[in-house]
Amino acid sequence: MIKGNGLDIVCAERLKAKDKLAERILTRKEYEYCRTKRNPILHMAGRIAAKEALYKALANYENPVYWKDIEVLNGLNGRPMLSEECNATRFLDKNNLICSISISHDGSYAAGQAIVWEKKE
Ligand SMILES: CC(C)(COP(=O)(O)OP(=O)(O)OC[C@H]1O[C@@H](n2cnc3c(N)ncnc32)[C@H](O)[C@@H]1OP(=O)(O)O)[C@@H](O)C(=O)NCCC(=O)NCCS
Repeated sequence: MIKGNGLDIVCAERLKAKDKLAERILTRKEYEYCRTKRNPILHMAGRIAAKEALYKALANYENPVYWKDIEVLNGLNGRPMLSEECNATRFLDKNNLICSISISHDGSYAAGQAIVWEKKE
């Protein structure tokens, strides 16, 4: 059963103008991943959008996770997923939930979506 859905869009140009914001809200691994890309700020914007989206998807729960509690990494095929080691994953596990994350970029905008499900017993 779907328990939450969140969507967010971030303008990379605006993020660029906010000095060191991305460094402050991305984990080290997220930041390093984005730095390997041709347009790092766009990938940072996508990761921030994904974090906001998960925060929205968990809006019905108490003690929601915050920026660095959420770590979005990429699987071997590039698919974005929550790191198994982050607090958000622990929060989801504790509440018998799983989540799926999707990111997209176009021009100077990046979007992130998160869907949260109840785990089957
Ligand atoms: C992987 C793919 C889907 C990415 O799409 P894109 O339009 O090039 O790029 P977008 O900016 O929209 O999305 C990039 C994000 O997609 C995500 N992504 C990458 N590989 C992915 C995969 N295998 N599955 C899901 N998401 C993926 C990543 O989060 C990436 O951002 P990040 O590197 O910052 O984490 C694309 O390169 C691809 O292979 N498309 C196949 C095209 C096709 O066959 N289309 C048929 C449609 S029916």
